[in-house]
Amino acid sequence: MKILALETSCDETSAAIVEDGRFVLANVIDSQASVHQAFGGVVPEVAARQHIERMNPCLDQVLNQAGMTLGQIDAFAGTLGPGLVGSLLVGANTAKTLSMLENKPFIGVNHLYGHVASNYLESDLKPPFLCLLVSGGHTQLIHVKTFSEMTIVGQTLDDAVGEAYDKIARLLELPYPGGPNLDELAQSGEDTAYSFTKAVVEKPFDFSFSGLKTAVMRRYEKALSEISTDSQEIQRVRRNIAASFQRTVVEILLQKTLLCAKSLDLYTWAIAGGVSANSAIRKRFQAFVNQPDSPYRLYIPPLLYCTDNAAMIGASAYFNPISRDLGDEVFSRVFQPRP
Ligand code: KG4
Ligand code: ZN
Repeated sequence: MKILALETSCDETSAAIVEDGRFVLANVIDSQASVHQAFGGVVPEVAARQHIERMNPCLDQVLNQAGMTLGQIDAFAGTLGPGLVGSLLVGANTAKTLSMLENKPFIGVNHLYGHVASNYLESDLKPPFLCLLVSGGHTQLIHVKTFSEMTIVGQTLDDAVGEAYDKIARLLELPYPGGPNLDELAQSGEDTAYSFTKAVVEKPFDFSFSGLKTAVMRRYEKALSEISTDSQEIQRVRRNIAASFQRTVVEILLQKTLLCAKSLDLYTWAIAGGVSANSAIRKRFQAFVNQPDSPYRLYIPPLLYCTDNAAMIGASAYFNPISRDLGDEVFSRVFQPRP
């Protein structure tokens, strides 16, 4: 079954054709990052208009890449939410229109189900497993019981990890998009230069990053006040703050994932969402599960499928083809109520 999927929830216009939920026949990601860079973040109205301009070229390109025509597509999928409403409407309405023109089913996909499903692409992963979802808007531990049945067992009480990355990146005067730039800066820093306390939360699988964010901000200001205005000195402090913040985040994520996996008896782990592109997270989790006698197995999507992309929407549409309609989710920021 070949699904043409569209993803436009934020600032990537993306189209993909995915076969049987696993095989990516074509995947086009047209990022608007350079347009939003001047504003230091995504401007929703600008993003929506950019999607309108970029959608048709993206569709042409994806069909060309796969060497297919619209008539050869079995179903059309589009992200319904959560995300920026104006942006979502472009991709979802385009997919729905194509499905009506071609007289084929339309499958509306939840963006977060999509991130989870990015782990099915080019892999053999099957539920049950524990998924750590870390994106710009969400941080969740999800018990994936079947392809369509998922329970959120823990989540952030305040900032998402990606949000914390982006805010600290802004503090360190790094350009948008903050997360990947902070990741790069951290690689040349000393990750034990500063230590930050980890938040204690009531439920053991929940997260909290706003205290860490404030602690990093205060420590940075203090460190700057203690040094001269020499630019090399300032650069060293920035690198060390970035590396120390990153180490703390990775430790929190690993600790919580392990605790949750032990409690639920889940030996297969997956990581998903934009922040799963982070080099330190990938390295630390990989090293942990690769220890001798480790009972754990880890799936992380290739970098291309970590940040927003339509291939993951195609995978989710195949494995969880519950057809929702636009009104159900397009205005919602909610993934699923807590159990
Ligand atoms: O999944 P995604 O593309 O969009 C959402 O659904 O939110 O995630 C975007 C988030 C942003 O906060 C971005 O800064 C972060 O993922 N991100 C990273 C890295 N690449 C993307 N954060 C840390 N390190 C990275 N390498
Ligand atoms: Zn996303």
